[in-house]
Formats: sequence, structure tokens, C-alpha cells
Amino acid sequence: MDQLLIAGGRPLRGEVRISGAKNATLPILCASLLSAEPLELGNVPDLKDVDTLVRLLQGMGVEASRDGRHLTLACPDLHTPMAPYDLVKTMRASILVLGPLLARCGEARVSLPGGCAIGERPVDLHIKGLEAMGARIAIEHGYIVAQAERLRGARIFLDTVTVTGTENLMMAATLADGVTQLENAAREPEVTDLAECLIAMGARIKGHGTDLITIEGVPRLHRAAHQVMPDRIESGTFLVAAAATQGDITLRETCPDALQAVLDKLQEANAIVDRDGTSLRIRMRGPNHGVSVRTAPHPAFPTDMQAQFMAMNCVAEGTTVITETIFENRFMHVQELRRLGANIEIEGNTAIIRGVRGLEGADVMATDLRASASLVIAGLIAQGETRIERIYHLDRGYEHIEAKLGGLGADIRRVAAPRAD
Ligand code: EPZ
Repeated sequence: MDQLLIAGGRPLRGEVRISGAKNATLPILCASLLSAEPLELGNVPDLKDVDTLVRLLQGMGVEASRDGRHLTLACPDLHTPMAPYDLVKTMRASILVLGPLLARCGEARVSLPGGCAIGERPVDLHIKGLEAMGARIAIEHGYIVAQAERLRGARIFLDTVTVTGTENLMMAATLADGVTQLENAAREPEVTDLAECLIAMGARIKGHGTDLITIEGVPRLHRAAHQVMPDRIESGTFLVAAAATQGDITLRETCPDALQAVLDKLQEANAIVDRDGTSLRIRMRGPNHGVSVRTAPHPAFPTDMQAQFMAMNCVAEGTTVITETIFENRFMHVQELRRLGANIEIEGNTAIIRGVRGLEGADVMATDLRASASLVIAGLIAQGETRIERIYHLDRGYEHIEAKLGGLGADIRRVAAPRAD
């Protein structure tokens, strides 16, 4: 397993190009199951999760050909509507094949994703919505076994705002008989990007980006081309890293409109943020004030940016509070940040961070994707060397992160873990 070595204490300076969004790419890849004709995608990021999902789809019958950031998928013959445990356990987003499989061929056998480091991650709302559309669903030996002659439109109220739940049901509804209404739908920009892709394929969708999405089923979808939106969480991660190291960087090909809550919080922390089209420049007015945040569904502050802000707050002036309302265990990075000298107390779903003068490099361990990003930021802040183990978590969601950070002046390198004798 690889490790990252970071010699911290250097401000980030320069320009970095933002990659396509992981959390838009994954549902859009699954949308290829809905059509026999090609789906041509641009701006597809080079990530482990994308590779894993393409392999899963190929096992079902999807043909895929990749050329750099371009990926073409086609599914003329969906011969195996099945997602096996050994693939699903490595990437929970595999659940996103369930709705498209049921819509396209009326059957699906998908391993239950199981929990992960940040929480139990149930999929009961995905299942409840598909049953409302007429699917018969049983859980057998750890698999979701689903059948439906033809899904029918339904009015579905989502008790909890769920991003992939909204995406799964929206995809299923595109080929259903009749109209489906998703109430209390997720408003994340990645949901909107998926909807735009489905509309390009011939789906009839309205209200995406609001909490009421209406989908009128059509008999079939057709060939389309779609450019994946930029990754707002990768963007936010680089912005926070620059703010935390008193740097001055410019993001190219990013998505400012999808980052409003994050940009507001960075300005509150004493950053200057300048927008120029799809570019964003960040620098600090002076000392980092740190900022308290409370996570919530879009357009409020995103849970995927919570760990990164915590790292920045560790060396900010004064005391800040971070409240996590989406997942029940998303503070795994705290004990690792403490190893670097951070002063953080946890009370339930709230963390109280008392700024310290500086952090000291140490050996730490990544536990999940965004916790890993938090440790990278802390390593960039810390004096001395930080070694981050288990960085396969990071590779799932950040494209070539050490090359991009190195291009901004960071002293960071990837090494193979020493062999255990
Ligand atoms: C998506 O996960 C993202 N993943 C997550 O990003 C992100 O943190 C999350 O949305 C919240 O924004 C992808 O898009 C691939 P949810 P998802 O369903 O859809 C509860 C990252 O770091 N819930 O919106 O799995 C659930 O327990 C990842 O890139 C149910 O109770 O999250 C949670 O408390 C991490 N029943 C809340 O809803 C369900 O059926 C929100 O979860 C579904 C969800």
C-alpha cells in the first residue's frame, strides 16, 4: 500500500486544473445501462472509483472505450443484470445500477452495499421508492433481488434527502410508464448534471436542482454526448489547502456557482476569493480566522468539505465549532489530526477546535476519502514531515493529487510502504 510523504510549512502558489466530478461521473456511468445506443462522455476523471464502476458495468454487458478524459459507453445487450459483492463492497455507489437495471430489463441482483467508515449508509429509501414504482424487492443472502415487468410512474416522498437515492429513482423513472414525482429530492449539482445528461439521452425531466423533480417516462433513450461537470469538492479541497497555508492559487475549469456555501465560509475565514468565468483565485487578507460550519444538504454547507475545514481550523485564531448533521461517524480524521498536535474535542456530532500555534509532522492513517484530504491539508500546514498511510482512500476521489499539489509548490511524494519483515 502506497504512502504520501509531505514536508509541510510551505504556502501553495500557482494554478491547478480541476478534474471532472467523481460524484457526477458515477451516476452518469450507470445511466449508460438505460440505452442501447452510445453515450459519449467528456471530462471524465482518472479515478479508482471510475475504473471500478466501468469494470462492473462491463460485466453486465456495457461496452466501454476510453481515450484520456473521453469515455464512450454503449449497452446494446444487457446480458447480466447483476452487481457482485466483491465489487460493490469496494464502492458503495454501485447501488446506482439498481434503478437503471430495473428500468431497462425488469430485473436486478445487486449486493447490499453495507456500511462504511463514515456511517451505516442504508439504502432503504432507494428500495422504498422502487417498490412504489411497482418493483417486487426481496433481500436474499445479502443481495437486493428486484423484478418489475415495467415500472410505473409514482409520487414518491423521500423522508431524508438522499443524493444517490434521488439519482437512482430519477434514472428508474425515465423509462417508467407514466409520470414520477420525487418530493424532498436532493438538490446537489451532481444530481442536476445527471438530469442534464439524461435529458440529452431523450428523458423528460423537470425541476432538477429543486426539491421537486418530475420525470415523464418515455419508451426508450437514445445516443447522446455529455460533458461531466467540474468537481466542486476537489475544488473546495484545493481552496482550503491554499487558505490553510497562507497561499495564493488559481483554480481553472472549476464551477464557482456550485461552491457558494464554501466560498462564503472561506471569505468569513479572512480569504479573498476572485471569480473570472470558470476560474477562482484565493489568497488571504491576513491571519486565518477559521470558521464554524454546520453540514446540511445542498445548497447549504456540504458534508464532503467538513474534514478539510477542520484541518484549516486547527491552526486558525480562536475556537471554532463543526457540526456534522448528515453522517453519524464522520469525525474519523479527528484522532489523526490530534497526532499532529491539534486541539479538538468531540461532543456527539459536534467538534470544538481550539486553534494552536502550529502542527508538527507525524505518521497518520487515512480512514476514508475526505478524512484523507483533511490529513493532506494538515500535512501541508505542519512543520516537519508527515507520512500518510492507506492513501488508496485518496486515490478513489482525487485525480493525481500529489502531482497537482506538487505543481502548486508542495513538497509531497508518493512512496511504497516499507515491507513488513
Ligand atoms: C452521496 O452519498 C455522495 N456520494 C457522498 O460523497 C456525500 O457525502 C453524500 O451524498 C451526501 O452529500 C456519491 O454521490 C457517490 P445520501 P449518498 O444518501 O447518496 C441517509 C464522497 O466523499 N439515507 O445523500 O450515499 C444516509 O444514512 C462521498 O464523495 C437513508 O437513511 O448519501 C445519510 O444519513 C461520501 N436511507 C443521509 O441519508 C437511504 O436510503 C444522506 O445520505 C439513503 C440515505
